[in-house]
Amino acid sequence: MLALAEKPSVGILISGQGSNMLSILQDAERPDAPYTVRLVAADRSAPGLALAKARGVPTLLLDRKSPSFEEDLLQAVASCDLVVLAGFLSILPPKLVRAFKGRILNIHPSLLPAHGGRGMYGKKVHAAVLAQGDLISGCTVHWVEEGVDTGAILAKAKVLVLREDTPETLGARILPLEHWLLVAALRQIAEERMKR
Ligand code: GRF
Repeated sequence: MLALAEKPSVGILISGQGSNMLSILQDAERPDAPYTVRLVAADRSAPGLALAKARGVPTLLLDRKSPSFEEDLLQAVASCDLVVLAGFLSILPPKLVRAFKGRILNIHPSLLPAHGGRGMYGKKVHAAVLAQGDLISGCTVHWVEEGVDTGAILAKAKVLVLREDTPETLGARILPLEHWLLVAALRQIAEERMKR
């Protein structure tokens, strides 16, 4: 008899409201989800932690200012097969990136390589898209490597930029796409891991 492959376990790292995290937690509750969520960890007191707790997911609050932060982060995800950065604002320690090569995903709210890099997050990204006069924006799921937002791209979804857009309206149109794209990419990666 063929042994059933075990579903990969996922650790989710957040810094904020956690709407991308929530879309993963909701998906993980479906019987056909090809992964399980082992924990949600935050680098600051993030509102998303309460949402994870409410769904019975183990949570961990780390202190990004603590001298042991990098070690704490490593330990937090040590037993996970995959790590998803879902609005995580701290730069990952290189040791963690190396240990998890090809196993860390990030969602970024622009069409990378445009408008990525250090300091480019949240509204700043959408403001840069508008300042540049881009006609199309969207979101990107990519592998995490040591540079910021530079890893291989896995998937993109696009929206039209409207003449009347503000950073807020553009961001609000992109966010639901992020939720969908991140889950779709995670499912595909988890399924591929189970086939190995
Ligand atoms: C998202 O736009 C994500 O792409 C970015 O930060 C935002 C986080 O939103 N990196 P949420 O915390 O998932 O709601």
